[in-house]
Formats: sequence, C-alpha cells, structure tokens
Amino acid sequence: MAAALVARSPRVLTMSRSGITAIATSVFLAQSHRKLHYALVPHGKGGRSSVSGIVATVFGATGFLGRYVVNHLGRMGSQVIVPYRCEPYDFTYLRPMGDLGQIIFLEWNARDKSTIQRALEHSNVVINLIGRDWETKNFSFSDVFAAIPQTIAQLAKEAGVETFIHVSHLNADIRSTSKYLRNKAVGDEAVREAFPEAIILKPSDIFGREDRLLNYFANVRWFGGVPLISLGKKTVKQPVYVVDVSKAIINAIKDPDARGKTYAITGPNRYLLYDLVQYIFAVAHRPYLPYYMPRFAYQLVARIFEMSPFEPWTTRDKIERIHITDKKLPHLPGLEDLGVEATPLELKAIEVLRRHRTYRWLSAELEDAKPAKTVNF
Ligand SMILES: NC(=O)c1ccc[n+]([C@@H]2O[C@H](COP(=O)([O-])OP(=O)(O)OC[C@H]3O[C@@H](n4cnc5c(N)ncnc54)[C@H](OP(=O)(O)O)[C@@H]3O)[C@@H](O)[C@H]2O)c1
Repeated sequence: MAAALVARSPRVLTMSRSGITAIATSVFLAQSHRKLHYALVPHGKGGRSSVSGIVATVFGATGFLGRYVVNHLGRMGSQVIVPYRCEPYDFTYLRPMGDLGQIIFLEWNARDKSTIQRALEHSNVVINLIGRDWETKNFSFSDVFAAIPQTIAQLAKEAGVETFIHVSHLNADIRSTSKYLRNKAVGDEAVREAFPEAIILKPSDIFGREDRLLNYFANVRWFGGVPLISLGKKTVKQPVYVVDVSKAIINAIKDPDARGKTYAITGPNRYLLYDLVQYIFAVAHRPYLPYYMPRFAYQLVARIFEMSPFEPWTTRDKIERIHITDKKLPHLPGLEDLGVEATPLELKAIEVLRRHRTYRWLSAELEDAKPAKTVNF
C-alpha cells in the first residue's frame, strides 16, 4: 500500500529517500493502529471519559470486591465487560460506574466455554473474582475455586490476553482444615500452570461496607452474645480494606513487573479475634458478650444453618475459616510493592458499623471506641 501511494503521487517521487521512509513508516503505523481496537489506544486526561487502554473482563464483578474493581476501572476510562448470571436488576448499580457504553454486560455460564470465550475475546485484561462462601448443589468449592479459574486462565491464554489477575486467599493451603482454603490452593496452582504470567493476589479477610466480616460479627449479637472458639484468643486476624485490594488490582494491571508474581495483601495491623470483635461492638455501640463455644457445638449449630434452602448465614467451613490465624508471608511482596498504603481498620470501621448502631448512638463520635489492641505474632 505504501508503494502504491508513493508511485501514484508525483510529489512523493521527487522526495528524498528519508522522506519516503517517513511516509512508509507513518502508513505502517496507521495500519498497525487500525488493527488495534479504538478502546485499546490510551488517550484523554485520565478521567472516566478518557480511554485508559484497558479493556477488562471482570469475572465475579457482581460480588463484594467486584463493585470496587469495576468502579476503579470505570472512572479511569476503561471498558469493562461484566459477565453475569443473575437477575440484571441486581447489578444496575454497576451501570453508572463507567462512561456511556463502557460497562458491557454479557450473560455467561461457567460450564459453557463458548460464553467465557465470548466474554474475554476483546479484552487485554482478565480479572477473576469468582468466589462463594458456601457450596451449593450445583457448584462445589472445587468447581468455584479450582475448575472455573483454571478454565478461564486457559481460555484467556488461548485468546492472547496480556494480563490475568487471579484473586486467591492469604490462608490458601492444601493442608488447611477448611475445604474452601484447600481448594483455593489447588486453584492457585492450576491458574499458574495455565497462565504462568498470571498475577495472583492473596488478600486476608476483606472489610468494607458490604463485607462478610464486620457485618457478620455485628449481626451475631442476635444470638445473645458472640460465640467464639477458645474465646478468640488463639486466632490472629489482619483484615484488609476493600478499596486497598481494588487499588492493588488496578496497580498490578499497570505494573509490568507484577507479571508472574504472587502478592500477600493484608492490612497494617494484626489483632486477636477476641479484641477485633470487641472493637466491632464498641464502634457499633452494642454490649460485647463473648462466650466460649466448643468447636463441635459450633459446628453443630452451623450444620443447622447449612440446611437452610436460602443463603446459609454461616457454615461449618466458615466457622473453621474465622478461627484460622492469618498467615505471615514475608517472602511475598505486599500492598506497598503495588504502591498502596494499607488503611487501618480503625479509620474505616465506622463506615460499615454505623448501620448496626441504635438510633440513640447513630451519630455518636468514633472517639468513644478505644482502638483495638494489636499483636505482633
Ligand atoms: N470477601 C473476602 O473477605 C475475601 C477474602 C479473601 C479472598 N477473597 C476472594 O476474593 C474473591 C472475591 O470475593 P468477594 O467477597 O467479592 O466474593 P462474592 O461477594 O461472594 O462474589 C463472588 C462473585 O462470584 C460469582 N460466582 C460465584 N459462584 C459462581 C458460579 N458458580 N458461576 C458464576 N459466577 C459465580 C458471583 O456471581 P453471582 O452474583 O451471580 O452469584 C459473584 O459475582 C473471591 O475469590 C474470594 O474467595 C474474598
């Protein structure tokens, strides 16, 4: 095409050799740009109406962490593909998170490879946030945490996706007493094998407005107190703020050095579970009545909840996970290596817990609650 252009134009024929080279280069660049989708050429000032160059498929976007990730991506001008399987009315809150037409919803089925391929075929980034706190008759933990991520990673590799981010769990361990965490460990290996440059993030328990940590304990008060195995004095937790996890995902996409690495994503402080729950109740202005619960009795109660035909409020596996001490993984890079400063729980707990206060204490100052004691082990 460059040759034809040069031959047809008499003005070009009189040009020097360097001029012809310049035209040929510009035509070549124009051609290669034409092959790129418009959404992949970054331009604009960086706001939601600019183009970040990221087209991301976010599997699990309709969950807790998903809404923060979609929001971060949308407001920097990325196109986000949201595969969904639920009632569209349930995720209308995601629609305004990006500019007009930038958040695209596609129905998918984790067991139908063609729907996965369709969801990621135009993307240069794929993020896997699929998760479930309990097993269902259709999907076991092994499906949700190992088989589905493995399939997504394989298909992303085949489609030539540049960046694959997989969200695992800090305590994922093949020898864990929790089935959830054992399958997370299997999933991590499967993803790494299918997509060796995948970025794996291992967050501890995540807190934030819609979490299942602070809200869970604040709701336990309906049982007349807080049942804790060993009174929560043998468990250490290091919760991380949801916005920090979401920022870490965005920074990992932008950082070419993050490829192929695994990150431990934790908050700045470690607390005994006993002290953490005490702080939750102090912020919620509710009386804290912890009591010993033997493991077998707690498991029995959880078994009764598991029989619910609706979402089980708790499960035996959740009881197990709550009482597992958060790992320290100093050999892995962390939040700060992704340029994120960890937010202390004390700064954000009120966002989650104000709704658990009675009317009388609704606007009471946060200073009333003493900061939770931290530990170093
Ligand atoms: N939340 C935490 O404290 C925490 C801590 C460490 C690690 N993580 C990990 O971080 C990830 C995101 O957590 P999250 O709290 O945002 O999870 P979440 O609120 O439970 O959301 C999970 C998402 O996965 C989707 N999903 C679940 N099972 C599916 C299936 N069989 N087929 C298709 N989609 C399915 C859900 O879709 P529907 O809306 O259609 O159900 C939802 O969008 C998970 O991998 C989780 O294990 C979470």
